[in-house]
Amino acid sequence: MKNRKGIILAGGSGTRLYPLTMALSKQLMPVYDKPMIYYPIYTLMLAGIREILIITTPRDNASFRELLGDGSKWGMRFEYMIQENPNGLAEAFILGADFIGEDNVALILGDNLFYGESLRKILTKANSDEDNSTIFGYQVKDPERYGVVETDEEGNAISIIEKPEHPRTNLAVPGLYFYTNDVVEIARNVQPSERGELEITSVNEEYMRRKQLKVVKLGRGMAWFDTGTHDALIETAQFVQTIQKRQGLLICSPDELAFENGWITRSQLAELSVPLKKTEYGQSLKALAEGDEMPW
Ligand code: G1P
Repeated sequence: MKNRKGIILAGGSGTRLYPLTMALSKQLMPVYDKPMIYYPIYTLMLAGIREILIITTPRDNASFRELLGDGSKWGMRFEYMIQENPNGLAEAFILGADFIGEDNVALILGDNLFYGESLRKILTKANSDEDNSTIFGYQVKDPERYGVVETDEEGNAISIIEKPEHPRTNLAVPGLYFYTNDVVEIARNVQPSERGELEITSVNEEYMRRKQLKVVKLGRGMAWFDTGTHDALIETAQFVQTIQKRQGLLICSPDELAFENGWITRSQLAELSVPLKKTEYGQSLKALAEGDEMPW
């Protein structure tokens, strides 16, 4: 199977979270017990992706490196890159061209959280489709805030509009995209939009024109949040807290998933838990490393 790399876009100025983000990256903000970027890392890991490029602002690059290192603690490989200005999501593929090389690629936005029972199956399927690109559709009450997709009965995209005034459907496109290697060339040919950005929606439109764009609906029981406003940030944190407290299972822990995926050993997991031992997060990892029963 063709390898797929991952890109996490953690740039942007985060102005909708001011003053929180005046001195610190949005994607380092806490979502309950973990930094925000843990959640998209987890999502890519769930798809089976082990090599990730993390794109940050110039200011925050060193902080991400300090938090995440080279990825080896989770049996992964991380590279870092700077996006000088927030020129749009599609710029990720131009910046990341060398990193992507000949491989396919998945992009996830650093403030998107996905959670749900069938997610591994859905992501693995999108990952294994080598000839098409896959985006997702998620029903929301306020589609005008997002890219909005319309599909035919077979799930092919027939229209995608960025933040439409009058949405044709209530299917928002979450910030997670599985693309073929052509995305590099497609992104290089995208023209800036009225707001001056290289829009991901323009990339999707091109795949739609080429009849290579699959839309997979994320249904009931699937949680998708983007955490870019004060309310969204606390609502997402409360969601994570509520489920974790109720079940005693961690949501979107890369430490746990690295072990589950077989990318680190039991003793490596135990070591990761040591500096975190004063937290419930660390205690959960320790219990997992010592226990016979797997929570999954
Ligand atoms: C971006 C995309 C939009 C997508 C959204 C998901 O919007 O342009 O199509 O639905 O992410 O989070 P932004 O958050 O940059 O306004």
